[in-house]
Amino acid sequence: PQLAEVDVSKLVIQRTQTPGQLKKEEELVFGRTFTDHMLAIEWTAGKGWSAPRITPYQALSLDPATCVFHYGFSCFEGMKAYRTSSGELRLFRPEKNMDRLSTSSARIALPPFDPKAMVECISRFVALEEKFVPKKRGYSLYLRPTMIGTQPTLGVGPPGSALFFVIASPVGPYYPSGFKAVSLEATSKFVRAWPGGTGDKKLGGNYAPCIVPQQEAAKRGFQQNLWLFGEEGYVTEVGTMNLFTCWINKDGVKEIVTAPLDGTILEGVTRDSILALAREFLTKEGWIVSERKYTIKEMAEAADEGRLLEAFGAGTAAVVSPLRRIAWDGGVGGTQRDINIPLQKGKEAGPIAERIWKWMEERQYGDVETSWSVHV
Ligand code: COI
Repeated sequence: PQLAEVDVSKLVIQRTQTPGQLKKEEELVFGRTFTDHMLAIEWTAGKGWSAPRITPYQALSLDPATCVFHYGFSCFEGMKAYRTSSGELRLFRPEKNMDRLSTSSARIALPPFDPKAMVECISRFVALEEKFVPKKRGYSLYLRPTMIGTQPTLGVGPPGSALFFVIASPVGPYYPSGFKAVSLEATSKFVRAWPGGTGDKKLGGNYAPCIVPQQEAAKRGFQQNLWLFGEEGYVTEVGTMNLFTCWINKDGVKEIVTAPLDGTILEGVTRDSILALAREFLTKEGWIVSERKYTIKEMAEAADEGRLLEAFGAGTAAVVSPLRRIAWDGGVGGTQRDINIPLQKGKEAGPIAERIWKWMEERQYGDVETSWSVHV
């Protein structure tokens, strides 16, 4: 039989009888409050996708044997809807997120799908939740598309059924402390991702193992882990974000560098956007923009020689998250030391992070029209 594709023309909408309201912006805590509705689409092996449904936000009822609970058949996305100054709603590069989810899904034997059709369904969902998209700059409606395996079985195998759903949460700054540069502990005792692993996919199972290392770092006064890899101490990611470093490199050239997509790095949409913006604007000012491996030792040397300019995390949730300090054990045979990262006087960011953030916001909120900003 022909397998059914995701089909937005079959969308069924059941509205809530108890509509809620958008909280005051200052009261929003990241990921704690949700909108009135949710989007759900079921998938069954041999049949394909059922009609998309928008229903009141509600609990899922799943058999305790459901494979997601036992073997981690779960992957997700983070994306945002923004309100422009004229009140229109926009999604930021939604097809990139849906493309990535389809790839993550396929990696754990869950169904891939047509990213375009999924974006259309999400667009309809966001339009219905219009009143929950905040107006204020720095605020947005965070969308959490999720795919789980739903077959009730303890047999370890490809799930015979799956559920795609999207919930939405009005959000402001990611960190409860607001916009503050963060201190990191460079972590080599724990490894986030490895060659041949799944660190480049957005699987639920990549996130849970990172909490204990983060708690350990927090005990010593650090907000996040800087994830290193290998004896060389390659710099990979920070917390749940990609990492950018700005320095004068050994050839005396201004360079903005981030780790390459070698299978151990999440293919961040913010990462990709920042690379494009840096190539468009910073190269004109003599910067080179690099996706290449680099080590914590190179960062420390750059700091010692006054060449380290800035470092910042990049992700959908926080957008840009400047760093102020990295504590490092010095690597094999080395001694514990701090790497201090300059910030502008009286500010929580360096000049490049600040400008990149502005360029991102101008495109997210539609001040500058680009193909990245998609009308809902
Ligand atoms: C991001 O957007 O940076 C994230 O991955 C954070 C999210 C898991 C809450």
